[in-house]
Amino acid sequence: MKVGLIFGTRPEAIKMAPVYHTLKEYGIEAKVIATAQHREMLDQVLELFDIKPDFDLNVMTHRQTLPELTKNLIDKLDKIMREENFDYILVQGDTTSTFVGALISFYYKIPVGHVEAGLRTDNIYNPFPEEMNRRLTTVISSIHFPPTQISKNNLLKEGISEDRIYITGNTVIDALLWVIEKNKDKIEKILEKYGLKDKKYILMTMHRRENWGEPMKSVMHAVKEFLLENKDIYLVFPVHLNPAVREIVFPELEKLENAILIDPVEYLEFTALMSGSYFIMTDSGGIQEEAPALGKPTLVLRKTTERPEAIEAGTAKLIGTNKEVVLEYMNKLTFDNEFYSKMSKAKNPFGDGKASMRIAKILLKQKVEEFKI
Ligand code: UD1
Ligand code: UDP
Repeated sequence: MKVGLIFGTRPEAIKMAPVYHTLKEYGIEAKVIATAQHREMLDQVLELFDIKPDFDLNVMTHRQTLPELTKNLIDKLDKIMREENFDYILVQGDTTSTFVGALISFYYKIPVGHVEAGLRTDNIYNPFPEEMNRRLTTVISSIHFPPTQISKNNLLKEGISEDRIYITGNTVIDALLWVIEKNKDKIEKILEKYGLKDKKYILMTMHRRENWGEPMKSVMHAVKEFLLENKDIYLVFPVHLNPAVREIVFPELEKLENAILIDPVEYLEFTALMSGSYFIMTDSGGIQEEAPALGKPTLVLRKTTERPEAIEAGTAKLIGTNKEVVLEYMNKLTFDNEFYSKMSKAKNPFGDGKASMRIAKILLKQKVEEFKI
């Protein structure tokens, strides 16, 4: 069986790395088609997980727009799909690489398996364009691998047949456990390297398109005020390479002594930074899934989330981007011990680290012929 894995951004690579290695362990011929929608941020992950792409489409251009990106992906994926004879294509999540990967597979009548299927908000513009990417990918896919019961229910509501849906857990937990297990000794050294071993620090990331402009500025104002009032607490912020993000974050925070602004760090380092942090503030999807597994309270800087599991479990709070609200919750987590401890003790709802194994077994069991025309 020959399976192509199409991915191109940092989070997709983290979540597909364990799938790739597991498919190979199960004797499946797995080929990586890296769109390289991200470049530096993708390469960091490929190196850590020892993955050499079989195809590298190198589509990233500086400040790429969505139409440009989509067009380049279509052109370059077309060539590969025409020449290679895949039994299945796997895509992950909700990026433009995910959607276009699924679309081109459909044009070549190759069945698509969707890893992390069924996440939904009720607003096609939030997150943008991810909510539409994931809905369109669902319609195209033949097998759906939702991480949780909630995501499975979303697919059922959209009329997806139950015999094509398999709950697996999220593969990000596989990746996280794998990295921690292999690098136990390095985590402390990483915190020393950043001078953070004995420091109390908040870890932050923010990059979503719907937060560009005013929402992001408003959060930066809250963070700035908090850091000026609490000089013994640090902020560690690996800033996404997207210039639209950097142009907002740096002018607001770079002069503060207790703000440590750095470039995106490789996944092992980020895992160490999460483990050592006091709490986390983010609009990222993947971090909302990892933080509960590490017992870190998380403030989600968004209006809506497709990961209600973390909110229900009590490990994350959806707080939006209003300055006063952000400040209120930062203070609550810092000064209200009971509030903090309740959040940090909540259980991880995203899986047991065996999602990739389930995907490999299902692919081997499922008859490809069923999906062929
Ligand atoms: C993309 C995904 C988003 C995902 C995020 C994860 C889309 C439309 N967006 O957003 O769903 O949550 O990745 O991080 O699929 N850049 C670099 N080097 C890199 C990566 C990005 O310089 O390694 C810069 C480039 O100027 C690039 C820009 O960032 O043009 C935007 O990259 P793009 O992939 O379009 O969007 P992201 O905001 O990264
Ligand atoms: N991450 C990383 N280095 C960083 C910041 C984040 O490796 O400097 C990891 C993080 O642990 C998570 C993933 O990148 O697994 C999240 O990526 P991102 O926030 O870019 O995308 P999203 O999850 O929002 O799609």
